[in-house]
Parts: sequence; structure tokens; C-alpha cells
Amino acid sequence: MQALILAGGKGTRLRPLTVYTPKPVVPICNRPFLLYQIETLRRAGIHDITLSLSYQPLKIEQLLGDGSEYGVKIKYTTEPQPMGTAGAYKFAEELIRERTVVFNGDILTDLDLEKVLAEHDQRQAAATIVLAPVDNPGSYGLVETEADGRVRRFLEKPKPDEISVNTINAGTYVLEPRLLDMIPAGENYSFEYGLFPALLQRGEPFFAHVPERAYWIDIGTPARYLQVHHDLLAGRVGQVQLPERLGEFDSATTAEFDELSRIADGCTLKPGAQIVNSVLGPGCYVDERARVENSVVWSHTRVSAGAQITNAIIGRGCHIGRSAQVGAGAVLGDKSSLTDYTQTETTS
Ligand code: GDD
Ligand code: MG
Repeated sequence: MQALILAGGKGTRLRPLTVYTPKPVVPICNRPFLLYQIETLRRAGIHDITLSLSYQPLKIEQLLGDGSEYGVKIKYTTEPQPMGTAGAYKFAEELIRERTVVFNGDILTDLDLEKVLAEHDQRQAAATIVLAPVDNPGSYGLVETEADGRVRRFLEKPKPDEISVNTINAGTYVLEPRLLDMIPAGENYSFEYGLFPALLQRGEPFFAHVPERAYWIDIGTPARYLQVHHDLLAGRVGQVQLPERLGEFDSATTAEFDELSRIADGCTLKPGAQIVNSVLGPGCYVDERARVENSVVWSHTRVSAGAQITNAIIGRGCHIGRSAQVGAGAVLGDKSSLTDYTQTETTS
């Protein structure tokens, strides 16, 4: 059994965070995102993992290396230009010899992969797709199923009047290698608009797996990037091993941080600083009376005295001026600098 992670998208919806950091390795609770997926695969006994890259591939390769540090073997394929999701699978053909688990490189789940594999095997499926229930199927691939679990219809990004069910493609597939022959070589082709509709047309055994109860999120927008942090901090995601809650950092005796927050190595909290339900990356400096609440702050950012950051995402190496107020929905790219007293939201 092997795995392919589709990690070549540009992450445009997560800009500006993805300008210098490709989406597959944005930090989630201070850990590069793909490590969560690698851990899920390793837990299911899958060690042979290929990463399919296109955007900023070197940054990803440098970070993850050959995988030995994480108990797996990682190989890379890099498309000269994005080939689409199924095109990326075809492009990796040389490395694919057997049944393969394919992950979209931006979903976090505590799914029991072994159950999916057992079901795929038992049904002798050509393809199995994992489903998740969501409130807004319009942003995803809608999947209708028959009573026996066969996929009846696959409709990517359905229009409001096309939404018939709330089950969507969770971005996890089990594929038999013979499907590679159905994908045209050298052209842009996707699972969602190309291969899946083609499987249905040909009457191939294409099945859906509906997990009993699983956490699932696509981290690809700022709102969901923040949401996944809150879910992880609150312990709503099973199976996930987070890094230590607190690293080695300096804290004044009058600084406060709550039970939920995670503070990485090398941070400094000055007197009266408050950290609530938030994540601070390595080497952040939070000055006197500054408050960081429900937020994610990447490494080496400085929050000056009296500044308040609430429900926001702050990139690496930013400077938040004195008494600045950074409010809900703000997303600051790396090295942003906010002048003292800046307000990102006006109250009147
Ligand atoms: N290598 C490679 N090449 N990877 C790609 C390419 C490509 O050309 N295009 C996209 N990817 C990767 C992205 O990096 C991402 O990890 C994954 O494929 C899915 O792409 P997104 O751009 O995030 O798609 P989406 O979120 O709009 O929709 C997809 O995911 C939903 C679940 O999160 C679809 O698969 C939907 O059907 C699905 O519901
Ligand atoms: Mg996505």
C-alpha cells in the first residue's frame, strides 16, 4: 500500500499566508500541516508516501526531507506546471505500483483509514471516496450515493439549486492502479471534473465510505485555518498528537496564559501580557499589557505594549505597534508592520 499527497495547489485563498509558505506546510499549532497527514498514514501502516508538488516545491522538500525523521519514506514528484488533481496522480505513475491512498494536501481528519481500506477491499472497488457532511456543499464536490454505498452522482462545486444532499468529497480516495490508464498523459485533468464522472459513466465499481463519526476540515481559507486551531486547542480532533503545549520561554510573573494556549520556544511575555486560546510561534515577543486572544501568531512576531489581537492570524516576523487593535478576520502576511495605534476595524 502506498500514498500520494496532492500538495501542488497555490493556496490562493490562504493568501497572504501562502505568499512565502506553501499551503501544505503552513504551521498548524506550530507544526507543518503535512506532518498531520503523514502521521495519519503512518498510523494506518502506510510508509511509502509520494508528495506531488508544483508550487514552491523546494520549501516543502527542505522541510520534510526523506521522511526518516517521521518514520516514513517520502518521495517527490514536481510538475513543471500544475497538471490538475488526477493529472498529478498520472504524473506520478512511475512511482505508483499498487493500490494507493490519495489525500488532498489540505484536509485534516481523524478518520480511521484502516476501516476505509478494509471496506474498499471487501467491495472490490476500483475507487473509494471518503465522504464528510458539511453545511455548505457548494464549496466542495457533492456526492450522492445509492443504498449499497455506490456513488450515484459526483458534482464539483454545485450551484445552489443543484444541492441535493449534504455529503461531500472529503478529499481522501483509495484507487486501484488500473485507473491510471483512464487518465490522459501530459494534460491537465482532474478527479473531480474528469475521472470521477468518467467512472460513473463506465459503470466502474466506485464506492463511497461514510465514516461513523470523524472530524474533518479543509484548512484552505483563513476562517477555516483559524477554526482548525480552535478545534485542536479545544481537543475536538481525535488521534492528533500536538507538540508540547508550552515550550521554553520567558514569562514575567504577572503575564497570563490560559490552559488552552500553546506557546513555542523562545517567546517572551512581559508583565501584564495576556495570551488566551491562542498559538504563538517560536521567538514571539509580547510586550507589557498586550493581549492576544483566539488568534494564531507565527514565529518572531513582536506585539508591542498595549496592543490587542483578537480572532486574527499574524504571519512571521510582523511588528504590531503600541496599542494597535487587530480585529476579527484580519490576516497579516509575513513581515507586516502596523504603526502604533492602528485599528483594523473601526467601532464607530
Ligand atoms: N500536484 C498538484 N497539482 N496538486 C494540486 C493541483 C495540481 O495541479 N491542483 C490542486 N492540487 C492539490 C491542492 O494543493 C490541494 O491539496 C488539493 O489538490 C485540492 O485542491 P483545492 O484547490 O484545495 O480544491 P478544493 O478545496 O476547492 O476542492 C477539493 O477538495 C474538496 C475537499 O476539501 C475537491 O477535491 C472537492 O471535491 C473536495 O470536496
Ligand atoms: Mg481545498
